[in-house]
Amino acid sequence: MTYSQMSAEERKAEYARLQKEFDDLKAKGLNLNMARGKPSKQQLDLANGIFDLMRDPADYVTDGIDVRTYGELTGIPSAKRLFAEVLGCRPEQVFVGGNSSLQLMYDTISKAYTHGLLHSPRPWCKEETVKWLCPVPGYDRHFKVTETFGFELVSIPMTDEGPDMDAVEEAVKDPAVKGIWCVPKFSNPEGIIFSDRVIHRMAALKPAAPDFLIMWDNAYCIHEFEGDFIPFPDMLALCAENGNPDMVFEFFSTSKITLPGAGIACFACSEANIAYMKKLIDIQTIGFDKVNQQRQVLFLQNKAHMLEMMRQRATIMGPKFRCVVETLDREVAPTGIADWRRPKGGYFVSLNAMPGTAKRTLALCKEAGVTMTSAGATFPYGKDPQDSNIRIAPSLPPVEELEQAIAVLCVCLKLAALEKLGL
Ligand SMILES: Cc1ncc(COP(=O)(O)O)c(C=O)c1O
Repeated sequence: MTYSQMSAEERKAEYARLQKEFDDLKAKGLNLNMARGKPSKQQLDLANGIFDLMRDPADYVTDGIDVRTYGELTGIPSAKRLFAEVLGCRPEQVFVGGNSSLQLMYDTISKAYTHGLLHSPRPWCKEETVKWLCPVPGYDRHFKVTETFGFELVSIPMTDEGPDMDAVEEAVKDPAVKGIWCVPKFSNPEGIIFSDRVIHRMAALKPAAPDFLIMWDNAYCIHEFEGDFIPFPDMLALCAENGNPDMVFEFFSTSKITLPGAGIACFACSEANIAYMKKLIDIQTIGFDKVNQQRQVLFLQNKAHMLEMMRQRATIMGPKFRCVVETLDREVAPTGIADWRRPKGGYFVSLNAMPGTAKRTLALCKEAGVTMTSAGATFPYGKDPQDSNIRIAPSLPPVEELEQAIAVLCVCLKLAALEKLGL
């Protein structure tokens, strides 16, 4: 019987039973964290081989370039070839940077703000208003980047196949709308893969702003934890075919393949955009860490080898995601108070609690020693109008701890829902 079908008496009895369960869980003094998409120790250990590399002096030279000294601002050729192979674009379209794709994203927006992009009539700081499209629920750090530059964040609903393209096509008629965030494969937090139809409509947009920018964050493009690798189209080629060669910047990093914070990141875009950005970045730095670029390339080798590595990681990640979804199916589904997605890759499970209960649920979780991403984080300005979406990040805790953390979450979801329904 679902909670809304229960009589007031039945709900009261259920609440008392759950309260006891909650007190017992609290008494365990748990300290568990499902807040951010951090790989577990077991997963990090899979990259330990990287520390044995670069011992032979021959490893310091690649394509005739000594990686130990200045030069090659846009990255070493072997790293460009590797990322181009993964993303399906050409090496000339790849700029390999430092340890974080988020930093490259921030820098791209920052340069648009201070200097403008290739087709900007003026730097964005000179615009009266800059509006930015944010598919929701989405990645909190994306939203904060555009918020920090004072852009007006416009929510675009996500559908099962990506952002609502009717809403996007309507919004881009406004010349103040300068761009959109996209995580096209295994979106954060819903794990949605944009459909071909959505991708084609996105590439064919005819925005009023001449410098409209698609921030195509392909962070999880080889991050399947269930099933076979799903090939994905090259957005750069699609935009070019649609007469928009300079409209997209794609981002990728090895953070969730080798070591977060100690991997390498890139952006990929038209050669005209590469030339434009190169000129600006040349003033900012003499070059990124090519020693690490070389180390990562030696470790990762090629796309086939990377996919093999990801299959290994999937044996660690898969059981964790199954634990989350199966526990929710068993414990929460019969109550009818929430629904959740069943991702096959990426780093998150997105759950929609009964409207008006996400904050209360997470406050209860905290009280019982389980830290989750704060409620609202998946929406612009940290405000979920429904107070419903909860992002679960199961990658960090070992399965035994995860089982406890999800048990806590299930009890808290139910307590919050019963309180909302009235006791
Ligand atoms: C969608 C998305 N993009 C980017 C990042 C951060 O990547 P990086 O470590 O390359 O900065 C994350 C991290 O969780 C993410 O979820």
